Amino acid sequence: MDFGLKDNVILITGAASGIGQAAARLLKTSGAKLVLTDINADALSAIARETAAGVETLELQLDVSSADQTKSVVATAADKFGRIDGLLHFAGVIDAHSIEDTTVAHWNRVININLLGTFLTAQAVAAVMRRQRRGRIVLTASDSARKGASISGPAYAASKGGVIALTRDLAMKLGSSGIAVNAICPGIVLTPMVTRDVGIGQAVVDEVISRTPLGRLGQPDDMANVAIMLLTDAAKFVNGEIVEVNGGFFFD
Ligand SMILES: NC(=O)c1ccc[n+]([C@@H]2O[C@H](COP(=O)([O-])OP(=O)(O)OC[C@H]3O[C@@H](n4cnc5c(N)ncnc54)[C@H](O)[C@@H]3O)[C@@H](O)[C@H]2O)c1
Repeated sequence: MDFGLKDNVILITGAASGIGQAAARLLKTSGAKLVLTDINADALSAIARETAAGVETLELQLDVSSADQTKSVVATAADKFGRIDGLLHFAGVIDAHSIEDTTVAHWNRVININLLGTFLTAQAVAAVMRRQRRGRIVLTASDSARKGASISGPAYAASKGGVIALTRDLAMKLGSSGIAVNAICPGIVLTPMVTRDVGIGQAVVDEVISRTPLGRLGQPDDMANVAIMLLTDAAKFVNGEIVEVNGGFFFD
């Protein structure tokens, strides 16, 4: 698909799986320059080999919860390509422990990766974008932050609620530097996070579909397409928005 992003430098976190991998695939014929990052180096190499057949690709292992790593990966990307036009931040983990079973270790892990990791990545990328006086940042929240969720626990919902607040704060503060910050807010998508890490049951899938006006679950491409759209000039006046991508489930 032609997104009008030719020669844009786009950094993707969580590119090795699920929604991030779908975004990398959608961009592999876009003419953009891709910086693909993930904590999982082996899976990252596989998708990087695929995109490198179509577009210039830089592959860098990154743990988004490390301030040193986010700074160094962003610096390496900016050195190679001279700029960073867009950030698609999908890296994240789920935590499904109940209120009773959530420990401090569970809480800290998910908050460190999902919330602190989002901030550290946006902070590092925004420093480059400020120098350019242009950039688009897309973060990833979750429906669980809006209304709770049967498949995840309180730490995950809180981490994604933090992402929503962070999106608005960054949008307000970075707008005058020509940087727009938005988030997508996915409903349930059958990625490894949900099938492998949560082990979602068919009964939950059926219930979500029955309450979704569009009559199906979202696919990784449904999420990735909206995130990419937020990088394009079609969305140039959209800022601080949390875009629901859930087939209407939110309004039920
Ligand atoms: N799948 C869903 O139903 C759903 C719903 C709402 C929101 N989301 C959000 O969408 C985003 C993408 O999730 P997904 O469903 O594609 O999951 P996924 O598990 O398929 O992909 C997540 C990726 O993040 C990477 N990752 C994990 N910890 C990391 C770290 N510390 N540093 C860097 N990378 C790390 C993983 O290696 C993996 O490649 C996440 O932020 C998730 O919370 C997903």
